[in-house]
Amino acid sequence: TILPVILSGGSGSRLWPLSTQDKPKQFHRLDSEHSLLQQTLNRCRNESNFAAPLIIGNVQHVDLIRGECAAMNLQEYDIIAEPIARNTAPAIGLAAQYAQDKYGDNIVMLVMPSDHAIKDVNAFQNAVRLSAGLCLKKALITIGITPDRPETGYGYIKIGDNRDDVRQVHHVDQFVEKPDAETAQKMVDSQKYLWNAGIFMFTAKNILACLQSYQAELTHYISIAWQAKAADKNCFTPELQAMHDCPSISIDHAVMELAYNIGVIPVQMGWSDIGNWDAIADISSPDDDKNIIIGPQQVSGNKFIDSHNVLIHADKCSITAIGIENLTIIESNGHILIMPRGQAQLARKASE
Ligand code: GDD
Ligand code: MG
Repeated sequence: TILPVILSGGSGSRLWPLSTQDKPKQFHRLDSEHSLLQQTLNRCRNESNFAAPLIIGNVQHVDLIRGECAAMNLQEYDIIAEPIARNTAPAIGLAAQYAQDKYGDNIVMLVMPSDHAIKDVNAFQNAVRLSAGLCLKKALITIGITPDRPETGYGYIKIGDNRDDVRQVHHVDQFVEKPDAETAQKMVDSQKYLWNAGIFMFTAKNILACLQSYQAELTHYISIAWQAKAADKNCFTPELQAMHDCPSISIDHAVMELAYNIGVIPVQMGWSDIGNWDAIADISSPDDDKNIIIGPQQVSGNKFIDSHNVLIHADKCSITAIGIENLTIIESNGHILIMPRGQAQLARKASE
């Protein structure tokens, strides 16, 4: 079996004002009738080789998580409710302790972000099956995406030689998390790098060993936090003080950049991290004038007149665009955001 571990503790600040601390992006329905969290759960469901999923997120979102699971009729799952966010390395460390307790050292964990779109679920599941068999040989396996632009918001994986026995898996020469623009451009031009999709597979034992060697302090505190956890039915809350004392660091910086014996499987699966409004536009279907209305339409009557390449999302009032082009207009949670298309990273500034 494979244990799905879903990371759901991020705040999705680049999708402000729709995505907020109270209801981050993974709980929203952006490109389908299901929320991003539900889509993630669906990708590892109804398959005999998946165990009941573990969802790890902030304690303030436990009711939202339960609601999403109930709405999709998912009964078997566990939650780790972080009393304080410490980024992905501590979250994965806690998940590994849970996995070890429940299933033993050699359980294979499939760690996934909760806020991505994957169009080709079959391709994803095939890659997961292939990786699972390798997790006992390689310390860490990650899924790689062929880059199409010098994105600075991703991790880059330098691919090494093919393994002899399994052709689809490459050895990772180097892992570079979020390079600057110049470095990213060089890496894309060299054609030797893939994007890190943020999807990792390893056994509980291997990731705990990596955390112990590269992040001893972090490992110390998450062990205390896990031992002193509170349990309420299927929900486990690690102890607050130890979480507070634990360093906050992503798994990419904490382990991936330092570890050796990492394998990468390149997969074409229609992956998008839909991290900002432009990325959502990229996976939506525009009309003839390249205008797009996003999300389940809460209001009717949005209109485009003599407008071109305009992106609209409206929760409470309809939006009419006349004679404008290349703009993103978002109305949500009592705010209106207007910004140029193509510069969607800027939205994060508004929520700071
Ligand atoms: N439980 C928990 N606790 N989850 C968290 C926390 C936390 O403190 N912080 C973030 N997450 C969740 C987010 O909700 C998301 O699902 C996932 O972990 C990744 O975190 P992001 O904050 O979205 O990371 P990123 O997008 O900047 O970078 C990562 O993903 C890229 C691909 O989208 C890295 O892995 C990059 O290397 C990668 O390219
Ligand atoms: Mg992300």
